[in-house]
Amino acid sequence: MSKLIIIAAVGKNLELGRKNDLIWHIKGDMKFFKEHTMGHPILMGKNTFVSLPKMLPGRKHIVLSRSSESSFPDDVTVLDSLDEFDKFKSTIKEDIYVIGGASVYAQTIDKADMIYLTEISDECKDADVYFPSFKDADYEKEILEDHPENTPPYRHVLYKKKGLL
Ligand SMILES: NC(=O)c1ccc[n+]([C@@H]2O[C@H](COP(=O)([O-])OP(=O)(O)OC[C@H]3O[C@@H](n4cnc5c(N)ncnc54)[C@H](OP(=O)(O)O)[C@@H]3O)[C@@H](O)[C@H]2O)c1
Repeated sequence: MSKLIIIAAVGKNLELGRKNDLIWHIKGDMKFFKEHTMGHPILMGKNTFVSLPKMLPGRKHIVLSRSSESSFPDDVTVLDSLDEFDKFKSTIKEDIYVIGGASVYAQTIDKADMIYLTEISDECKDADVYFPSFKDADYEKEILEDHPENTPPYRHVLYKKKGLL
């Protein structure tokens, strides 16, 4: 069965975004995101879709939205509910990456098999969206990479659901 994998970058207080944009633009994190998501379907909310500078090559875009499908490019799959997404997911074998934003992370976190979190050692007082809290006791935690030399410092952490094969 295809796995549901969340990927996100957060500040010290789980800050995710501000004014429908990212807060931090860290080159090494963009590379990490690209390497992990390349070739996989990516699920996102409408706000995240409109915040992208362009469509991300090599990845099937699935957008959750109740807006008319005609407001999206033809090659985007628009689904109007999580139930529709669950049906879609059951028809494919590839792992799906959830790439945001806050509302979609909140709705999918309980179903996520794995979470790639880029933990950034910085804060943003005027963030307006946050990553949901989750029970980290349900996951095995592995620090994949640490970048203390960067400004701001950050690390990539993988949370894998306990019992996942
Ligand atoms: N730091 C990170 O890793 C990261 C990653 C991604 C995004 N972000 C940030 O997160 C922010 C955007 O997050 P957000 O929470 O405002 O928006 P979002 O989750 O990207 O999109 C919300 C929209 O998605 C649609 N939607 C959500 N759930 C749905 C459902 N169950 N059924 C149908 N449609 C659904 C609705 O669109 P309609 O109104 O069209 O129905 C809703 O208004 C931005 O600041 C962005 O930069 C950060």
